[in-house]
Amino acid sequence: MRTFSVFWLVRILMFIAVGQLLDCTAIEPFDCSNIKVGKMIFNLSTLNREWNQSIIEKQSKGVMNTTYRINICEPLSYNETLGKNNTCEDGTNICAITTFKSYDSDGDPMIIDVKQIVKNSNFQPISIFSEVNREILFNTTETLEVKLGGGEYLDEKQKANITFFLGQPVDLDPDVVDYKNNTLLIEWKIRATGNDESQGDGSWSLFSIFLFLIFIGFLGYLVIGVAYNYHTYNSHGWDLLPHRFVNKITLIGWFVFETELLLNI
Ligand SMILES: *[C@@H]1O[C@H](CO)[C@@H](O)[C@H](O)[C@H]1NC(C)=O
Ligand SMILES: *[C@@H]1O[C@H](CO)[C@@H](O)[C@H](O)[C@H]1NC(C)=O
Ligand SMILES: *[C@@H]1O[C@H](CO)[C@@H](O)[C@H](O)[C@H]1NC(C)=O
Ligand SMILES: *[C@@H]1O[C@H](CO)[C@@H](O)[C@H](O)[C@H]1NC(C)=O
Ligand SMILES: *[C@@H]1O[C@H](CO)[C@@H](O)[C@H](O)[C@H]1NC(C)=O
Ligand SMILES: *[C@@H]1O[C@H](CO)[C@@H](O)[C@H](O)[C@H]1NC(C)=O
Ligand SMILES: *[C@@H]1O[C@H](CO)[C@@H](O)[C@H](O)[C@H]1NC(C)=O
Ligand SMILES: *[C@@H]1O[C@H](CO)[C@@H](O)[C@H](O)[C@H]1NC(C)=O
Repeated sequence: MRTFSVFWLVRILMFIAVGQLLDCTAIEPFDCSNIKVGKMIFNLSTLNREWNQSIIEKQSKGVMNTTYRINICEPLSYNETLGKNNTCEDGTNICAITTFKSYDSDGDPMIIDVKQIVKNSNFQPISIFSEVNREILFNTTETLEVKLGGGEYLDEKQKANITFFLGQPVDLDPDVVDYKNNTLLIEWKIRATGNDESQGDGSWSLFSIFLFLIFIGFLGYLVIGVAYNYHTYNSHGWDLLPHRFVNKITLIGWFVFETELLLNI
């Protein structure tokens, strides 16, 4: 009976240990539905579509049109037939395409510039949540700043610094404020707000710390048991294990169940 309960205790402990391990060691790519800043979690998945803004500039010879295409959640749609030079690379999240149409031409606007600004690749995003009081300007007290990157333009690394104004009545269009120093500044009023995950979390971590200590204690018991058996009885192999709580069947069962557990996660 004792063996049985130790077996289950170890199973539960392993489950928690694996869960905690996955939680803190994973370096995840940017996930717009799960942005963590301290204890806050933001789900911006309602922004998962293509947004665009065109900035028109009249010049002496024609019109320059810079279109910013934005989807922070998934790569923008990619049209292979347009050719590499005429559209953003496959996998781009934010890019800018500039066309020029001269006043005395009837043809299509000419593509004169393509910038990949954000590619959800190996850039480690930076997120900052602040409760700066901006009530007067934006009717909100909370902002979320997200800095993304991964794109390159003329061999210079590009970044986008997006400031979200949270808790608006609807998701508005993003507003491209500026592009300077290889950084695109975007302000975006959105509906989403953060969820504070800290409630309930504290008691859970205390509980896991408690179980973790028991787990360490059990490991210590194994190690001391092995050392004791080695020195006292000069045992080898399976006989090294403390017999009172652990036997072959328990261990084999344990590994089988742990493997099954890992595969299920
Ligand atoms: C984010 O919100 C969407 C619906 O708006 C929901 O389907 C999705 O499961 C949420 N994702 C997370 C990670 O909470
Ligand atoms: C701009 O976004 C709309 C959807 O909001 C999309 O239908 C359109 O194709 C986009 N325009 C460009 C130039 O990508
Ligand atoms: C600017 O370019 C975009 C994308 O090609 C296009 O949808 C939009 O109509 C253009 N605007 C003007 C004023 O030409
Ligand atoms: C891709 O671009 C070509 C050339 O402009 C156009 O004819 C075609 O319709 C586009 N395909 C899609 C799926 O948008
Ligand atoms: C793309 O542009 C580069 C240089 O700007 C040129 O060498 C290359 O031939 C172009 N490729 C296509 C498919 O137009
Ligand atoms: C701010 O909120 C008030 C009431 O909640 C509303 O009347 C006003 O139009 C809002 N201002 C802006 C800029 O959204
Ligand atoms: C983003 O831009 C704002 C100004 O619009 C600046 O205050 C802030 O420090 C920038 N954030 C990052 C992470 O660079
Ligand atoms: C430009 O950006 C770099 C880092 O991205 C920063 O060190 C530098 O101070 C910025 N320069 C200006 C003028 O903002």
